Amino acid sequence: MASSFANPLLAAPTRPLPRTVAIIGAGTIGPDIGYYLKSALPGLKLYLVDISREAVDRAIERFRAYAAKALAKGKMTESQAAAVTENLIGTLDYRDLADADWVLEAATENIELKKRIFAEVEAIVRPDALITSNTSSLPAAQIFAALRHPERATVTHFFAPAWRNPVVEVVRWEKTAPEVVEHLRQVFCLTGKVPLVTADVACFMLDRIFDNWCNEAALLLDDATAAEIDSVAGEFVHAGPFFVLNLANGNPIITETNTLQAEMEGRHYRPAPIFRAVERWLTVVPGRPVEVAPALAAAIRARLLGILFSQTVDILDRGIGEAADLDFGCRQALAFRAGPLDLMKALGAGEAGALLQRFCIERPGMPGARRPLDDYQDFLRHILVDELDGVKVITLRRPEAMNALHDEMTDEILAVIRRYEHDPAVAGFVIVGYGNRAFCAGADIGRFPRLLGDAEGAAQYARDCSRLLVHLDRMQKPVVAALNGMVLGGGFELATRCHGIVAQRQAWMQMPEVTLGIVHGIGAMVVPYRRWPQAAAEFHAMLRRAERLQATRALELGVVDALADDYRSLVLTAVERVKALQGKVAGVPAGAVELGALAPIEPKAASGQPLSAEVIAIMEQAIRAAAAAPTLEAALEVGYRAFGDSACTAAAREGISAFQEKRKPDFTRTP
Ligand code: COA
Repeated sequence: MASSFANPLLAAPTRPLPRTVAIIGAGTIGPDIGYYLKSALPGLKLYLVDISREAVDRAIERFRAYAAKALAKGKMTESQAAAVTENLIGTLDYRDLADADWVLEAATENIELKKRIFAEVEAIVRPDALITSNTSSLPAAQIFAALRHPERATVTHFFAPAWRNPVVEVVRWEKTAPEVVEHLRQVFCLTGKVPLVTADVACFMLDRIFDNWCNEAALLLDDATAAEIDSVAGEFVHAGPFFVLNLANGNPIITETNTLQAEMEGRHYRPAPIFRAVERWLTVVPGRPVEVAPALAAAIRARLLGILFSQTVDILDRGIGEAADLDFGCRQALAFRAGPLDLMKALGAGEAGALLQRFCIERPGMPGARRPLDDYQDFLRHILVDELDGVKVITLRRPEAMNALHDEMTDEILAVIRRYEHDPAVAGFVIVGYGNRAFCAGADIGRFPRLLGDAEGAAQYARDCSRLLVHLDRMQKPVVAALNGMVLGGGFELATRCHGIVAQRQAWMQMPEVTLGIVHGIGAMVVPYRRWPQAAAEFHAMLRRAERLQATRALELGVVDALADDYRSLVLTAVERVKALQGKVAGVPAGAVELGALAPIEPKAASGQPLSAEVIAIMEQAIRAAAAAPTLEAALEVGYRAFGDSACTAAAREGISAFQEKRKPDFTRTP
């Protein structure tokens, strides 16, 4: 049986990545799923199957249009864009599916039709071909009841737009072989998605939130207008329920899915009757709320939070999904501003509990908390923790920000390390990034704007962010960084404080801070020079010109200890490295260090982007002062203060705003 790791890429693969996939249904979601798969796996042979030639042709046209847009935006190269429509075959004939490794149905939400499709599919495909059905609500046990080989079948649930939305639910139902669920998790993770495993219940995990949120909103229409409800909901979601229902023509869907929940779980889930009578809602666009009388706003807010919290505790109490997945999915798939567990935490157990209790009285039958509310908060939000051969593997999981570090994530890593540091059964730790793109994209830039113009505050922020790194400096038990993709800024600073570094062959490191108009706050101007003085010239170029350091070159320089070809062997190599470092952890050298020449350079990044001379000057002064500092502590302090100084430059303001506005900074207007 396949073992289950929180990080899907730690398990030994039981099947190769699919080479031939058939998607049944050329409507909207089918081609969107297909486009995502073809972009991630360009060599894939993809069949698009439908009963209408026109639908198939339109779908292929959509692939072309998406690829042209990606090319125009610089997200794809010409050859990547061309590969998207190569080996893409539209067909009306199920017999073409005979060689498929995976048949993915995304044609219908009608259960009888799904059953007919799968009977036909099973008659044609190999007995071990994967079969999945995409649905937002129908349990796998119903869809696949008649399959001869149900062990290779399950449900996936993609979210719109499926080519971009990272979330996909993968349903673990009793007849699916565990290896199939593990394989799907790996395929999704390796192709840029974030698979969330759920139990096989009606509406799985996330649509229990979404459908009931919408249904509750509709039940409130006796007392408030759709515009008023959407306006109040705007505190919690980017778009209110009625606005979203208009976009998705969702009224009949909620009627169907809540009828299903009512049939399976009780009358309290029955759909609001008004869904059958209304086609479109008169409501507001997001960001332009109407005035709502305070008492009414409070009542709406209480009901909306009530249903949200009721579903949340029910999902966790029944083991329908994991807490971190629920928060992540609500933010990324359903566009909630914060996950429901984060919302509960922010309100406090007292207020959240009172709202939930009041809701359960108003809506008899709706689930309430089975445990004290604080118990539901006991989970790791930003990291995954697994164990491999006596080593704790910590996976940074913030795919929405390329695993960028912020205080809460840093604190979670530190808490896990502290918990096991003195446990004799744990040999050490490996830190790796989730997915196949990034180890870590640095510090979370979203936290920077409030530091601008505040030298002391910014320096203190850098000191605070260093809690984990300073702890690593003092540890005896080895921590090894496993670099699984790009390693930027604070991610590089974290790696250089680990006691060993291993990397995937194609990984690379870069310090882009100077392109944001700031200097490196948490050790990059200090630690690399002390640990690897032989690579000083490379570090100068990384810091001052944002030049990349390839893992292969880092190996030659002695910065990286070993290379690996794929994710799993990377982590296994890191585990071996932990073992080899037992009793041999060396701290960062404490004394002053001789630097190679820091010859003047033109203020221009390796990419050609003009840089701020003022920021480079702050950096050069800090590099020199830190190298001359008699202790590591004093040297790090130089870095914190230089970061504070850089936060007060006009360049920092321009660089950070440009990143947030998704444009190139213009440092020519700043000194
Ligand atoms: N902090 C916060 N969010 C980050 C981030 C960071 N360091 N790096 C990436 N992200 C976010 C992006 O804002 C984007 O979020 P969105 O989808 O909500 O807009 C998401 O991650 C994906 O990044 P995107 O830029 O769309 O992907 P890309 O493939 O075009 O580029 C990077 C990837 C990493 C090269 C680019 O995001 C980047 O340059 N990031 C900043 C890296 C940096 O300067 N780090 C040092 C910080 S001190």
